[in-house]
Amino acid sequence: MASQHEARNGLAGLRILLGVSGGIAAYKACELVRRLRDAGAEVRVVLTANAARFVTPLTFQALSGQPVRSGLWDEAAEAAMGHLELAHWAQHIVIAPASADVIARLAHGFATDLLTTLCLASEAPLAIAPAMNLRMWAHAATQANVAVLRSRGAVFLGPAEGRMAEPESGPGRLLEPHDIVAGLTALYGPKRLAGKRVLVSAGPTYEDIDPVRFIGNRSSGRMGFAVAQAAAEQGANVQLVAGPVHLTTPPGVARVDVRSAREMREAVMARAEGSDIYIGAAAVGDFRPHEIAPHKLKKNGGALTLSLDENPDILAGVAALARRPFVVGFAAETQNIETYARAKLERKKLDLIAANRVGEGHGFDACENEILLISRDGIERFARADKLALARQLVARIAEKAQAKNEGRGTGSESRRKLVPVRARTRTR
Ligand code: PMT
Repeated sequence: MASQHEARNGLAGLRILLGVSGGIAAYKACELVRRLRDAGAEVRVVLTANAARFVTPLTFQALSGQPVRSGLWDEAAEAAMGHLELAHWAQHIVIAPASADVIARLAHGFATDLLTTLCLASEAPLAIAPAMNLRMWAHAATQANVAVLRSRGAVFLGPAEGRMAEPESGPGRLLEPHDIVAGLTALYGPKRLAGKRVLVSAGPTYEDIDPVRFIGNRSSGRMGFAVAQAAAEQGANVQLVAGPVHLTTPPGVARVDVRSAREMREAVMARAEGSDIYIGAAAVGDFRPHEIAPHKLKKNGGALTLSLDENPDILAGVAALARRPFVVGFAAETQNIETYARAKLERKKLDLIAANRVGEGHGFDACENEILLISRDGIERFARADKLALARQLVARIAEKAQAKNEGRGTGSESRRKLVPVRARTRTR
């Protein structure tokens, strides 16, 4: 995935062709143009006919400082810069918002309008930020089209989850413009984890009681998958050990599916010594039934007592290895977050711990999160943000701390001073 994107220092000077397709989210493309230009990119906008119903070409022309194209048959525009020249001009094509229709036409190689023609005629890498109704996004046809485009190297930025224009909530929203820019910057920015092997665990574990019941927890896997994606974007070779979740594997990530804590431990331990960094974002079940009943347990008119055994602690096991990677844990707490997380950092001998509040809509199964990143010599607050945006900030910091430790510089304040400021981060002390 990253190989298509020439090594450069961010978006400065990059010639971006922004395709805008029809949908209420088209208005957000205006801010996207501004933010791309602020990041130093040169932007030319192509609208589909439907997009022009939502936002006028004049708006995009004013924001981009360039003529805007929408039709294949515009003679004056063709005379100034023919569509094949435009396809050649683009160093990257971004479609935001991308409707289900545009995604389908791209997947099937249609060239029925200027935007799809340009995509076919250009060799530039393609990034797609979808926006559509949540059922349209979930539809098997759309998902098949997305898979086809991904297999050809297209990068999908989003969709985000949350409230839609209709009174519904779910995946289908256009990513916020700053998150689209962050995603593109991650593709073109310096690769902080190039050549590094990063192992991530994500999601819940299920501990079977009998053939139909299990003990589980509310982890959706989103945080861990976002961390895996962010590490892959930074050039790492990422292995993701996933508990039972319903999430798509991020591009460029190798995934191993497991169910129980013991299966997760086996998968993690088999890969840990060969990894440079281990990030334990999984919500591992602390206990498992002493025995798994071979048949469905029957009611007997009284209480049922389950005898539970403690599961092995995977994170502590990795940290105890003779050739241990840089070890980052998560702490899921409902109260006394900093105190309890610090105790876990010490007890499990971790390098860093990312503490988050859980319960009452926080942490588990939410689209957003906020984190206190604690090391022996400091603490930083990463303010509430979409989990992928947060993961990108977190991974950038983990990469820096791991490098500092490798170079014998510790994880102290002297290394913090070298940090590039990250949006939405404030220091608590
Ligand atoms: O998956 P999401 O819905 O996106 O939610 C994200 C999250 C809340 C699950 C995630 O951000 C998070 O906090 N993960 C850690 C959850 C957890 O199990 O926390 P804990 O405080 O119980 O455990 C501390 C650390 O020890 C964790 O890194 C955990 O992976 C690890 N552990 C715990 C028990 C065990 N037997 N083995 C372990 O490795």
